[in-house]
Amino acid sequence: MNEQPSFFKSVVKKGVIGAVIGAVFFGAATALGFPPIFRYMFVAYATLGTAVFILLDAPALPTFGGLKAVVALLAFYLVLSVVYIGGASLWPQYDPEDEKGKIIKLLEAKRRASEQGKAEELLVRAKALSEKADSIMQRLQTLGGPTVAAPAAGGAKAGGAAPASGDIVALGKEQWELQECYNCHKLEGKGGKKRGPELDNIGSLLKPDEMKEKILDPRSWMAEGFEKEYEKKKMPDKYKELMEDKDVDALVAFLATLKNPAVNTPKPIKKK
Ligand code: HEC
Repeated sequence: MNEQPSFFKSVVKKGVIGAVIGAVFFGAATALGFPPIFRYMFVAYATLGTAVFILLDAPALPTFGGLKAVVALLAFYLVLSVVYIGGASLWPQYDPEDEKGKIIKLLEAKRRASEQGKAEELLVRAKALSEKADSIMQRLQTLGGPTVAAPAAGGAKAGGAAPASGDIVALGKEQWELQECYNCHKLEGKGGKKRGPELDNIGSLLKPDEMKEKILDPRSWMAEGFEKEYEKKKMPDKYKELMEDKDVDALVAFLATLKNPAVNTPKPIKKK
């Protein structure tokens, strides 16, 4: 019986070849920057291949018969099952529920962060609004009951309370946006597609009352160099209907702050 030694020789030979192949795989995978798990997997494949080739040379088992064959088959099946199931359970498991849990956790944290952010923003805004309401209430109190509505602009002009004039300028800027003056007038480099004069320096050229005149009656003044536009009545004659007196006063208070000599606002000419 010289089958045993020759099988032993073949095990050694194929084992060495398998080890070399495994080492080459490992080296190549490392050189190519594969993650470690893949390097070990390649070595495992080489080992598996070696085992299969060795098994091919294994001496034949004696033939089983009858009950012995059934028991051997069942034992073989049992071993295989244990190896498969046991081996598979050794690998890191992918559990969809687990992944879902992780994702929910991540999203939950994000959602809470953004909701908290929103809530904080709202709180800040609410606080600002309530401060504004307080300051308006104070103004109302200093102005006294019956005279409340009328003299906002007058008060500001006569050098009234500083916060009041700041508020009215802000309201005036709102009117600038609301009435869409920016459609025709460039301000701070923005707007003015319909080619009216830039108004960045209008505060140095017109007194508040004169601006009010121009807004309520565009025929009253004409920007120098805009004769054609003036003749074509480009500037709309609608603000006296659209705007309340206090809105005009606020808008004028805002325009009065525009005193930028670097911008060439045309000289207004009195027309009527
Ligand atoms: C549809 C275009 C248009 C809109 C909207 C418009 N304007 Fe004018 N505006 C003009 C034109 C054009 C001129 C120049 C001709 C003239 O003086 O009438 C002008 C002139 C002026 C002037 C005189 C400028 C100077 O240098 O003499 C002032 C002040 C002015 N507009 C204010 C306003 C305000 C405030 C609003 C918004 C309530 C407004 N305009 C809305 C077209 C417009």
